[in-house]
Amino acid sequence: MPEMGLKGKVAIVTGAGSRGDGIGNGRAAAILLAREGAKVALIDATPAWAEATKAMIEKEGGASMVVSADVADQASCAAAVKSIVGAWGRVDVLVNNVGIGGPMGNAVDVDPTAWDAAMRINVTSMMLMAKYAIPEMRKQGGGAIINISSIDGLRGGNPSLFYSASKGAVVNMTRSMAAHHGPEGIRVNCIAPGYVYTPMVSVHGMEPELRDARRKNTLLQVEGTGWDIGNGVVYLASEQSRWVTGIILSIDAGSMAGTSGNVSPLKAFDH
Ligand SMILES: NC(=O)c1ccc[n+]([C@@H]2O[C@H](COP(=O)([O-])OP(=O)(O)OC[C@H]3O[C@@H](n4cnc5c(N)ncnc54)[C@H](O)[C@@H]3O)[C@@H](O)[C@H]2O)c1
Repeated sequence: MPEMGLKGKVAIVTGAGSRGDGIGNGRAAAILLAREGAKVALIDATPAWAEATKAMIEKEGGASMVVSADVADQASCAAAVKSIVGAWGRVDVLVNNVGIGGPMGNAVDVDPTAWDAAMRINVTSMMLMAKYAIPEMRKQGGGAIINISSIDGLRGGNPSLFYSASKGAVVNMTRSMAAHHGPEGIRVNCIAPGYVYTPMVSVHGMEPELRDARRKNTLLQVEGTGWDIGNGVVYLASEQSRWVTGIILSIDAGSMAGTSGNVSPLKAFDH
């Protein structure tokens, strides 16, 4: 039975910050990876938010460093990986967590210019980070990449065409990357979170009725948090998933399995 195998490993988490004290998916993943003994590079375009994550990790005696970078920018991704390797000598795990709600609307309403810019953040960024992290993983004969999608990448129903399309791209990018890099020992998996209550959602001041409807629309009828997603990341980063690649792990209290029938799925819209 394999150990977690994360002690001393170097993990990169993009979007590892969160507004204020909130626990986003990236922050939760970073804290939980550090708890397993990984050294965690906290990439964020707003370094102050990643500094707050670093303080939380330090409080538990973990190791981390903040790296200021815009993952939609190629030079920024290259520089970020270079500085992490300069400091810690290797890269074992990459968590491509950055993602935004992006421009609203269907094909008729959505702003095409905003669409292009947002695609760079939700999709291109994951390719760019992998472009620079994979050569480092090759040096020690393996690694693990975890791409964060959404249940909206697996089904229709979200009024935002951009969000569904970008998250769907992450799903199949994961399978293709898994096929390309499996033979070199690099596992690539995806998590499709359900509608968890994180700062990405709460910052918009969600009505209590909508929050409750989201909860009731899951089979378990329990509200999800960033920790639920972070625990999935740790599993997929660890040796315990050594025989797992190319999967899309829905962490969603059963949302992809069916609806409880209490509320319309469209009311569970999260942005
Ligand atoms: N919250 C949900 O209900 C939910 C559901 C499904 C999927 N997701 C996905 O989970 C992921 C992250 O969620 P979260 O709760 O951690 O989000 P969050 O908004 O709390 O944190 C995202 C972090 O990413 C950073 N960031 C944004 N653009 C960046 C860029 N270009 N370069 C570097 N950093 C950047 C932000 O500064 C922020 O600190 C996203 O991919 C999101 O789509 C969330």
